[in-house]
Amino acid sequence: MPGKLFPLGGPVSEHDIVDREDFLISLETRLSEGQSIMLAGPRRIGKTSIALEVLRRIRTKGCYTALIDLFRYNSKKELALGIINACYENRSGIKKTTTALKDGLKKITGSAKLTAKIQDLEIALGLPAENRNDDELLTYALKLPEVLAQTDNRQIVLVFDEFQEVIRIAGEETLKVMRSYFQTQENAAYLFLGSKEGMMNTIFGDKRQAFYRFATILPIPAVSEAAWGTYISKKFAEKKITISHQTVTEILSRTGGHPQDTMLLCSEIYYALLEAGEDKLTFAFVQLGHARALATLSPVFDEILDELGKTALTRNVLMGLAAGKRIYSGLSNNPNEIKRAVDTLISKGIIEKSGRGTYHFIEPMLKDYLLETLEVY
Ligand SMILES: Nc1ncnc2c1ncn2[C@@H]1O[C@H](COP(=O)(O)OP(=O)(O)O)[C@@H](O)[C@H]1O
Ligand SMILES: [Mg+2]
Repeated sequence: MPGKLFPLGGPVSEHDIVDREDFLISLETRLSEGQSIMLAGPRRIGKTSIALEVLRRIRTKGCYTALIDLFRYNSKKELALGIINACYENRSGIKKTTTALKDGLKKITGSAKLTAKIQDLEIALGLPAENRNDDELLTYALKLPEVLAQTDNRQIVLVFDEFQEVIRIAGEETLKVMRSYFQTQENAAYLFLGSKEGMMNTIFGDKRQAFYRFATILPIPAVSEAAWGTYISKKFAEKKITISHQTVTEILSRTGGHPQDTMLLCSEIYYALLEAGEDKLTFAFVQLGHARALATLSPVFDEILDELGKTALTRNVLMGLAAGKRIYSGLSNNPNEIKRAVDTLISKGIIEKSGRGTYHFIEPMLKDYLLETLEVY
């Protein structure tokens, strides 16, 4: 959000994207060359921020772009219209071209121009979009990127955010349909993002799945401590707040450098300083900010725990790990069951293996939250 010292809650602009320059260049290069890419990672680590910045850069080179956020759609028709509008926007300059046309905006001066702007695409693809049933509409949408790119002699890069949602929205069959069109397109490249890592890895990495080998799967790099340190010191300095190297280290050890948690903790510390009228960031403010950040995160963490809800063992294993137990010897369950629970936690991006039989939390703040609420369970 503009105006905030530490932006939070949505994609951040280029000035606040910490430590992604090399990755952004790599993505921009690959996509411009027509390579399709898949990035999977838990929510709040900066996927959408990366995608928006890549699209911004690609647009400045004269390419067409389209962003389709699947969290917004609930039906095949909505998905199809989402793709169509994202493509049309490159020509019309407005977000919802199909609605504008349907609402009879044609009568208004200038909207005849809107029709003219996309008419050739409708002709190239047969019937106008509005006269089709849902399946035909989706076919129209899936063919459109290449037709648009070819007609205008440009490359187009499309981002599908939260791609795994296709299955919820339009069923698994739709994945096959999508691939059948995408794989023949020479002027379109696709960037697929997803926060359900297990599902994303299956869709793109399993031989029997529709998108097997369609996209290059890249790991999303962590934001380095050094880059965070520079950013955090600079931001506080802008507000004439002094912060020691040691305090920066303390902040980062509490967040593990997790993108949104780090932004949130810094933000809470900043507001605590403002309220107290202080300009020296001491350890006590880190502690206060940390407590407030945990309180803010509780609904987010509860949702993560809810998603694990069905199997009590997975939660117990997670609790055990938070408490520092050796889970295989500490729990009485069958080792195979424990292994399955551990695998679930890894595939959901909650923990990572750090050694033989040892694991660490990707989000240290989640661990702190669990430790705080442990006695409740
Ligand atoms: N590279 C980054 N540098 C700093 N903060 C980041 C970065 N990436 C993400 N964030 C923080 O995380 C929040 C969520 O980012 P977003 O791009 O929406 O993540 P995702 O799409 O993975 O859920 C942002 O509002 C910002 O506070
Ligand atoms: Mg996102």
